[in-house]
Formats: sequence, C-alpha cells, structure tokens
Amino acid sequence: MSTAADSNQVSAATWWRQAAVYQIYPRSFSDSNGDGLGDIKGITAKVPYLKSLGIDAVWLSPFYPSALADGGYDVDDYRNVDPKLGTLEDFDEMASALHAAGIKLIADIVPNHSSDRHEWFREALASPKGSAARDRYIFRDGKGPNGEFPPSDWDSVFGGPAWERITEPDGTPGQWYMHIFAKEQPDLNWANREVRDDFLKTLRFWSDRGVDGFRVDVAHALTKDLTEPMLSKVELTLEGAGFDGFEDGSHPFWDRDEVHEIYAEWREVFNEYDPPRTAVAEAWVHASRRARYASSEGLGQAFNFDLLQADFDASQFRRIIAENLTLAEESGASSTWVLSNHDVVRHATRYGLPNGLGRHCLQWFREGGTAKDVNTELGLRRARAASLLMLALPGSAYLYQGEELGLQEVVDLPAASRQDPWFVRSNGTDVGRDGCRVPLPWTSEGSSFGFGAGASHLPQPEWFSAYAAATQEEQTGSTLALYRKALRLRRNLHTEEQLKWVDGAGAAVLHFVRPNGWHSVTNFGTEPVGLPAGTVILSSSALVEGKLPADTTAWII
Ligand code: GLC
Repeated sequence: MSTAADSNQVSAATWWRQAAVYQIYPRSFSDSNGDGLGDIKGITAKVPYLKSLGIDAVWLSPFYPSALADGGYDVDDYRNVDPKLGTLEDFDEMASALHAAGIKLIADIVPNHSSDRHEWFREALASPKGSAARDRYIFRDGKGPNGEFPPSDWDSVFGGPAWERITEPDGTPGQWYMHIFAKEQPDLNWANREVRDDFLKTLRFWSDRGVDGFRVDVAHALTKDLTEPMLSKVELTLEGAGFDGFEDGSHPFWDRDEVHEIYAEWREVFNEYDPPRTAVAEAWVHASRRARYASSEGLGQAFNFDLLQADFDASQFRRIIAENLTLAEESGASSTWVLSNHDVVRHATRYGLPNGLGRHCLQWFREGGTAKDVNTELGLRRARAASLLMLALPGSAYLYQGEELGLQEVVDLPAASRQDPWFVRSNGTDVGRDGCRVPLPWTSEGSSFGFGAGASHLPQPEWFSAYAAATQEEQTGSTLALYRKALRLRRNLHTEEQLKWVDGAGAAVLHFVRPNGWHSVTNFGTEPVGLPAGTVILSSSALVEGKLPADTTAWII
C-alpha cells in the first residue's frame, strides 16, 4: 500500500483538504493566570499536548475583546485580543509556538454582527437618524403612529424580537436596529462599502500575523433585503423557511445569492498570500446551496453539519457520507465532517440517548431530559466508533476540544451559573449550550482539575476527574490514546479523496475502503460481525474472538 511518503504528499496550498482541525474554545481550554477564564498563554502552554495529539490545525473560537454576551461572538474590536485572554504579543507567541509544532492556525471571524460595545455602534447611537454612522448597521423606523412597533415581527435566533429600540441622543424613543442573534449583537450593514473594506483590513491584519485560515461565523446571513413590505414570520414559515432560508435564495436574510460577492472579494485577499489563506463557512443552508460557499472563488470550504444531526445509525451515516462526497466533488472543495462543536450536545452524550433524538437532542434536554437518562457507557463506546469512522473519511475532520477525552456533556449545570444567551433570553426554558463549554479537566485532582489555579468560570462536576487528560495519558485503551493513534495513522495513511463502499456484511455495517487499501468497518448493529482479511491496525473497542462487536469501528490494511 502507498503512504504519505509516496507520491501523494500534502502540498502547502492544499493542506486544509484533509486536515484534522481541533477547535479550541479559548475561555474553557486552559487558564494560565487563575482568573477562571481560559486564555492565550494557557493555549501556548498546551502546544506540546496538541502536537502529541497529532492534529494538523487549531481553530480558535473568538478571542477578541468582548463582554461575552454570546461567549465572544459579540466582538468589540476585530483587530485585538481580549485583555481578559491576553495581548497581541501573547497571540503572536501562541501562533509561533503552534507553527513551530507544525500546527496551522484558523481564526474565527464574526462578520454578521459586531457587539453593541464596538466603537461603530456607540457612534451610531450617538449620531442622528440617517447619518453615515447609523448606516453601518441596520436601523429602521418603527411601525405604528409613534414608531413603537418593530419594523417586522421577526424573532431572533436566541428568542425574543430581532429588533431593539434605541433611545435617541436627545432622550426620545427612537429607531430600531436589527439583531438576528442577541440584542448585544447588532447586525452590520454589508451594503455599506466601509463595512466591507474594514473586514478586508481585518483579514489582512490576521493573515499578516500568521493566521493560516478563517472560520466564518454565520456566513449565510450577511446580505439582507429589507424592502417593504417585509414578509411576516408566519408568511416566511408558511413558505417553508427555517434557519437555512429558501432554496432559491430569496429569504430576506438567510443565504441570499449576493453574499457570494462578498466572499469573492475575500478570496482575492486570501490569494494575496502564499500559501493562500483558507476559509470554512459556517452556513446552515440547504445542501444543494452549500457548494456556493465552498467554491474556490469563494470561501473554499463549508461545514456540513449532517453527521452531528444524525443518530448513530448505519443508513443515516451512509446516506450523509455519500451525499456529501458528491457535493464536495461538485464544488471542487473537500468535504468537512463534524461530530461535536461548541453549539451542540457532545456526541458521547448524544449517542447515550435513545436513538431517534439525533438532531432534536438539545430540544429534548430543553424539555426536561436529565443526566439520569444518559447511558454514558454506551454513548462513549459509540462516540469512539463514530470518531474513528469520521477520521477514515476523505475530507477534513473538525474535532472539538474534550472529545479526545471522551468527555460527556454537563447536562445539569446549575441555572445560576449558565451563561448562554439562549438560556438567558428564554428565561431558562432553553438550557442552551453551556454544557459542552465547561472547562477541560487536565488532572484528576487539584483546583478546577488542572484547568487553572482558581475555580473555573463554569463549574466542573466531580465526575470530570475520571476524564482527566493526565489520567488518560497513563492508560492504554483510553480515548486519548485512541485519538492519538488514530490521528498518527491517519497522517501516514494519507491518500486520494475517495472511498469505495464494500457491501455484503449486512445493513447495520458500514464498510469502505480508501484508494490505498485502508479499510474502515463500523458495526452499528447488536451482533458481532466478521472482518475482512488484513491486519487490524486500530479498533475503537476490543474485538471479540476476532469479530467486530456492536458499536465498534476497526481499521484494517
Ligand atoms: C454561530 C456560532 C454560535 C454563535 C452564533 C452567533 O452559530 O457558532 O456560537 O452564537 O454564530 O454569532
């Protein structure tokens, strides 16, 4: 069989195509100064850990100055580091340490909205209606005799209206501004040239500092058509609109065709660099429209969130994999695979819930599902199997911090410690996303399990101790050991972006082989199954009498 040492070397310009990218949620990764918040120096200190894990790149969720109204996705200043997390010098030091370890750096960029503390927004509030300062955001007069009703009845993603009324500088009730997310996240006006130019400046700013790529937050929301009359939310729903917009691009703010004009300009900036900077779109759009974001004239890659919405189920996995490989071929990009991120319930927990909950799992917790209902053992076993399957697929794999420890969601955080605007804006009826954002356990004992010298900003449960990285370092067969071995093998087994399905082992088994003879077989069923001839190089659980047991993946060459 051929390996990376042969003809199929990863070129400098296409490193991203099959990269294993590790997402760091900075506030919850490692705290160097004991203030309870993870920080940049904390990340730098863990570069040896990241190197030993064997990832190709780190994606850093927002680290910009922020009041943390939405975990940092409310940015005060796009070209700086949050003083709570460090300084620009700390950032440079971290980037150099990562690069010296052979790890690329992807920065999260949040173009749809700034925070309400951004200097532009403060200027807009202090300036009169119709001013240039207001035009950088989306201000409209209200409806009703005194403008007392919002310009439309749309809801924000986090609940409550998508418009907020301001008080004018003279103290009178004034215009309304649009915010698709929290009210602390006013939407920028992408029809304004100054906004566009400023983001080009930001892309160059970080690219010049050595950032290798960008993860583009809600990439499908930037352009809007708010011509009157605006459709009501009922009309939009009746026409079938969800968070992914309409398949013809005619939704007033999700996934409009004009958004790609912006990314064509971004691409020109990316291509000023050698190697070109990369980007991946967070765009919850119809599968048929994903290729536009992933085009080489646009961002170059787009997340597919299909696996993270699926059950642990062979036919769902097979359909999703086949569909996305076809889409990737259409766009010329490689596919992306994600099982967990900072917005969803960790997959070790999802898979320990009754099948069928798949995409509705967060909803289920919102409606009263509790920790007691989670079969953590089954969840972890399946998570290990799914991760191994994902890591054998052609395309890039995005891993979320803590999944390499098999970490479970903290589903029973006390209400008083929850921070997510989803929780806050729903008055506690939506549990929100804090459960996957609890700081990592590095050691089995000590203050905040080695996260930092003080208490962590979200409380860690006692059972975190058992998942500590340091404990798993010592254990053969630990989830950390499994990820390390899988990532190292994956690198050496680098091959063309294709797979061939091998049928015959029954509907509950997914078996595919990559062009170099690397087989991955997953048993989603309940009975052990035979394995193809060859050497088993890795399995997510122990084989039973040479057979592949339930909820297990094996790699064979
Ligand atoms: C994206 C982020 C999410 C954030 C939202 C608003 O979906 O992943 O965490 O709340 O955008 O910026």
